[in-house]
Amino acid sequence: PVIRLEDYRPTDYLIDTVDLDFNLDPNVTKVTALLSLRPNPLGRPNAPLVLDGDELLLNDLRLDGTPLDANAYTASPQGLTLHAPPQRPFELRIETSVNPTANTKLMGLFRSNGIYCTQCEAEGFRRITYFLDRPDVLSVYTTRIEAAVEEAPLLLGNGNRADAGLMPGTGRHFVVWHDPHPKPAYLFAIVGGRLDTVSEVYTTQSGRRVDIAIHVEQGKRERATYALDALARSMRWDERVFGREYDLDVFNVVAVSDFNMGAMENKGLNIFNDKYVLASQDTATDSDYANIEAVIAHEYFHNWTGNRITCRDWFQLCLKEGLTVFRDHEFSADERSRPVKRIADVRTLRAAQFVEDAGPLAHPVRPNRYREINNFYTATVYEKGAEVVRMLKTMLGDDVFRKGMDLYFERFDGTAATIEDFLSCFAEASGRSLDHFSEWYAQAGTPILTASGFYDEVSRTYRLDLRQSTPPTPGQPEKKPLVMPIAMGLVGEGGRDLPLVTDNDVALHDGVLIFDEAATSVTFHNVTEKPVPSLLRGFSAPVRYDIDLSDDELLVLFSADSDPFNQWQAVQTVLIRQLIKGTEAVKTGRSLPPSDRLVRALAEFTAATAEQDAAFAAQVLTLPTESDIAREIGRDVDPDAILSARRAMKRQLSEALLPTLERLHIKLASSDAFSPDASSAGRRALRNAGLDLIAAADPERGEQLAAERYAAADNMTDRMAALATLALIPGAGREDALADFAARFAHDPLIMDKWLALQAMIPEPQTLDRVKGLMQHPIFTLTNPNRARALIGSFAMGNPTQFNRIDGAGFDLLADVVLKLDPLNPQVAARLLTAFRTWRMLEPGRRLKAEAALKRVAAAGNLSPDVTDIAARSLG
Ligand code: ARG
Ligand code: ZN
Repeated sequence: PVIRLEDYRPTDYLIDTVDLDFNLDPNVTKVTALLSLRPNPLGRPNAPLVLDGDELLLNDLRLDGTPLDANAYTASPQGLTLHAPPQRPFELRIETSVNPTANTKLMGLFRSNGIYCTQCEAEGFRRITYFLDRPDVLSVYTTRIEAAVEEAPLLLGNGNRADAGLMPGTGRHFVVWHDPHPKPAYLFAIVGGRLDTVSEVYTTQSGRRVDIAIHVEQGKRERATYALDALARSMRWDERVFGREYDLDVFNVVAVSDFNMGAMENKGLNIFNDKYVLASQDTATDSDYANIEAVIAHEYFHNWTGNRITCRDWFQLCLKEGLTVFRDHEFSADERSRPVKRIADVRTLRAAQFVEDAGPLAHPVRPNRYREINNFYTATVYEKGAEVVRMLKTMLGDDVFRKGMDLYFERFDGTAATIEDFLSCFAEASGRSLDHFSEWYAQAGTPILTASGFYDEVSRTYRLDLRQSTPPTPGQPEKKPLVMPIAMGLVGEGGRDLPLVTDNDVALHDGVLIFDEAATSVTFHNVTEKPVPSLLRGFSAPVRYDIDLSDDELLVLFSADSDPFNQWQAVQTVLIRQLIKGTEAVKTGRSLPPSDRLVRALAEFTAATAEQDAAFAAQVLTLPTESDIAREIGRDVDPDAILSARRAMKRQLSEALLPTLERLHIKLASSDAFSPDASSAGRRALRNAGLDLIAAADPERGEQLAAERYAAADNMTDRMAALATLALIPGAGREDALADFAARFAHDPLIMDKWLALQAMIPEPQTLDRVKGLMQHPIFTLTNPNRARALIGSFAMGNPTQFNRIDGAGFDLLADVVLKLDPLNPQVAARLLTAFRTWRMLEPGRRLKAEAALKRVAAAGNLSPDVTDIAARSLG
């Protein structure tokens, strides 16, 4: 069935309080729910009460203490209906049982390595008890958890601990948790198990003492301290930047090893995929550290943007996700380097969201219909949703943005809100209408911004012509112009910004031009020299843009623009242009060297400035990926031609830069003790980017250097970087290093994921067999989402030439895995299947093979709604 935004109506009943009692047992956990219900004044009188369920077994049912007549209700695993409930407040007592051990979907109550835990977003609570399982039903929860002391000495729930005790003679104990903040069922959680803990006391700005703690599998305590520190920093940041304080006496984070997504913001009890908690010098790379910091912050920030103010319905998912991603991006920017964070976020946006927006799975930031909500936790909802919030801030300015946020927190605290509610606060704070701006939430597809400039020496004017259009997306053939804030400058000699003087009617404030029509022209006056326009500084709008600048002009921006993002963007644009031409050349058997000017600009940069900001320099020296190039080409893509062109370009650039790279490599060698901070990480990133380039120019020297780096590494960043360099050089060296890694880390599947992923991404025809072989490796199991994503996900999304093999064997492998995984874990199966989102961009031969594999999936029997939906839309 299709759920539609326009069909929203409030529930007929409300649930004010929920008293839950869990009797934890590996195979038969009894759950007793006491619900106090009443008719919703906004609902329909005398309506039946329809509670959601999913694979539930009803043991007992009472209304106000009395068993119900068999014909007064209908119960099935999928639901419980009371045909004529009382039209006054009443109490329902429901006893169900569930089997946590058999729960391979990892939704509802399940066990991960013996630890009981829950995942209820989006619709998992109905796998625990019958309920109005939707985000606009807010209730106060009290949860009693009982378990064997031996099996689960630690019992956690939402809110504050209210009671605890032993049950003499039974070997069991219980803990009662009470959460005073009304919340929707998707924020419910419990945990039970044997866990190791790190904790500290955090004092909020108003003086509330909070016990904050991270709980991890036994023996991994040392690997949890970085996450605890990141949590404390997140809490401080939200007080300082958004005026938001924590609101309970405890804040618990639990890391488990089987988890469908990254993490979950359950009230006072966040549950994490351990990938986003566990870190140490020897086991985590610098990007693992950065991700942990970001995800810890993200889930914590949800306490206000998601929990205190939640979503009216799942169409409003971006209300909490886009906003919270924006907040975690800002946090990391403040904690680390703002320009480098922006570059990394834009790389992700383009790699994940632009691709989604250009293919069959494109949808608006706020979708208006869905078949399976789990398939809408997407890059569009999250990352583009964050960009839309960023545009609001860019347009309105920092102060008005903060005023709007304050108003939002004040007005909608304790409610289930909508995008309209959110925008109304900024409209009020700014005194401006945001009606046109709100189209960003409704219209799918990535707009294309085209700009051309004309300088008139005589009148000293510069005219900028702007046009925008958005290609059609599924179900949206016609597109409207959107409101784009274009942060800009006119760059003169030596990189200085010329003053921006325009006619009065042009909407330009603090260097931000608001462009909201299909086309416009802006004339700048008193322009004393021919400028180079620098548009979309800081990537001020999530659009593709095409500006008629020559490579020379772009290289001026690269060396001199005052905006570091656009410095990076300028050189990336030149690289992409040359890589596209190089790809064309490969198809006709030729090879195109990089232009002399590009080589010179990069050599100068590397020699002169690279060291001062190593993290930034590492971004500059990382070439666009094969997928970046494919996306820019857009149609009839031949991944093999792209790979060859990119290899050739990388080799030729590296050869030209070799002496500079060697010097830099020596200078960056550090003898200091390891620290995961951003500037140390930046130096490692640059040194490793250098190693990768040296190996491209001189594989023998690269192999030797990488083998040394691998053996001498005192941290996982250097070890993995060396291994990645070796992985691109066929031969005994690489196989030896891979074997060494496996021997060192065989005991830890989370670390072995890096080993699986790296091998799955080797761009060689033998990789298909390697992946098939690794599926039989003892460390691999399809039922663990991290394993499946590391091996199969990396192959399908991180190895363009081998997934898109011309013989179709890559597509077939993915189709086989999806069909095998679907009955066990439909969410992860559906997510893997989205690797087909680029199939229509391929050249005709590969396209046919991909379509055949997709059709084979679609035609299989007994598919989950998750996989059915992705397959149908992909073929669409
Ligand atoms: N709200 C979580 C987060 O972004 C994601 C949970 C999604 N879970 C799911 N089963 N769809 O932090
Ligand atoms: Zn989130």
